[in-house]
Amino acid sequence: MQFHTMTFGCQMNVHDAAWLDRALVARGHARHPVLLGPGEELSPQVLAGADCVILHTCSVREKPEQKVYSLLGRLAAYFRANPRAFCAVGGCVAQQVGPELWRRFPFVRLVFGGDSLPEAPEALERLLAHPRLRISLLDFSESWRPREDHLEAAPPSPQAFVTIMVGCDNWCSYCIVPSVRGPQRSRPFADILDECRRLVDAGAREITLLGQNVNAYGLDLGPGASSFAELLRAVARLPGLVRLRFTTSHPKDLDEAVIAAFGEESTLAPMLHLPVQSGSDRVLEAMGRRYTVAHYHKLIDALRAARPDMAFSTDFIVGFPGETEADFQETLDLIRQVRYASAFSFCYTDRPGTKASAMLEKIDPAQSLDRLARLQALQQEISESRLETFVGHTVEVLLEGPARRQDTAGLVLTGRDAWNRVVNVHDPEGLIRARQDRSFSGMMVPVRIDAALKHSLAGKAAGATW
Ligand code: SAM
Ligand code: SF4
Ligand code: F3S
Repeated sequence: MQFHTMTFGCQMNVHDAAWLDRALVARGHARHPVLLGPGEELSPQVLAGADCVILHTCSVREKPEQKVYSLLGRLAAYFRANPRAFCAVGGCVAQQVGPELWRRFPFVRLVFGGDSLPEAPEALERLLAHPRLRISLLDFSESWRPREDHLEAAPPSPQAFVTIMVGCDNWCSYCIVPSVRGPQRSRPFADILDECRRLVDAGAREITLLGQNVNAYGLDLGPGASSFAELLRAVARLPGLVRLRFTTSHPKDLDEAVIAAFGEESTLAPMLHLPVQSGSDRVLEAMGRRYTVAHYHKLIDALRAARPDMAFSTDFIVGFPGETEADFQETLDLIRQVRYASAFSFCYTDRPGTKASAMLEKIDPAQSLDRLARLQALQQEISESRLETFVGHTVEVLLEGPARRQDTAGLVLTGRDAWNRVVNVHDPEGLIRARQDRSFSGMMVPVRIDAALKHSLAGKAAGATW
């Protein structure tokens, strides 16, 4: 079978999609050769030869959900012309909508939720063999479901992602994730450590631990289970690992032990994504976030005390039901005080079955958009001025490969620094090129920054690679 994969949503989906691709390749199937670039239109010509199109979908806001329906609408022509080919829809929209998807789009023959991912390869093969069959895999499992990682089926990468838990128990009032990803289930400690070790042995230099609420890791495993801080320290000390990151943290569960680890484990990158959502206690309460702005500031201060070069990114929702201009001003104040390196910000949208969707004081969409624009302008100003302060400094960059845009002065490489910022690296003295024994991907190189752009840095290789 030749399959074409398209992925929407968070890193968990990206990671699930990569797993399914590897599992299918390991079973003898082939990835469709065409990868769509940004903005490229999906056309029947692009898909030519694909027996199966797999969508990994996201339902966190209205827009990504609508995107799935509009994509399925555009795919219809391909499946009309290739009636033996079919579509499989996985992830959060599949879990939310289920077989309704194949009633609307008859070429959809498999719907599967995140928990059923390990069963998807076999289900796809059954569908190939039985053209009249449809399969729905939407059950939640009781505990973490082990799955073979098939690392051998993909080229080794210097950056790796490891899932440490699935689901979420927080039920923030606006959020659909607990109902589409199920309750929190942590993966066994030894299993995680083993995968991390094997990834490092295969060439990974940076690992990101993944979960919707990683700070609550282990709480569902009963008394005696290791905590997130213990897991973090064990992974941080793996020989050969250069950088460790994790996402996502909930401020109510981020504890002193994790803060202390930032001060003591040098592999822990000094960059934390700590979603705050709002700077108003009134709104935070209505959101069911269970912390106050004062508590959030305390966490930021403690982290900065433990690790003075710490930087933060966050998520904001504007236009939450009942949010006043005064509440919104408090969010802007918080941004000015914390000075985030970057932020994802969204207009609130109703999600089916959530508490907030039943709240009556909905904000006019034009007003939400106006608030979003003001928030993003302020954040952009701060992000740019923070980047400026790095000009003249040297940072360690983990190279990913040649940059998309080259210039006349020679090869330009791209990578990321410890704060996860993209750094374009010039190599006028050939310090990197001298290392022809290795591929650029995975090299660490000190880079002297000479320019700050809107979202990235640029500089020159300034020393030996390692
Ligand atoms: N578990 C993480 C947390 O607690 O922040 C991330 C959850 S969600 C996958 C990513 C972001 O989507 C949230 O942080 C929130 O800002 C946004 N989001 C979730 N539900 C939303 C909604 N109904 N409307 C707008 N934004 C939403
Ligand atoms: Fe959604 Fe809240 Fe869980 Fe994050 S912590 S996934 S925002 S319910
Ligand atoms: Fe992720 Fe979207 Fe599901 S953010 S957990 S893919 S709803």
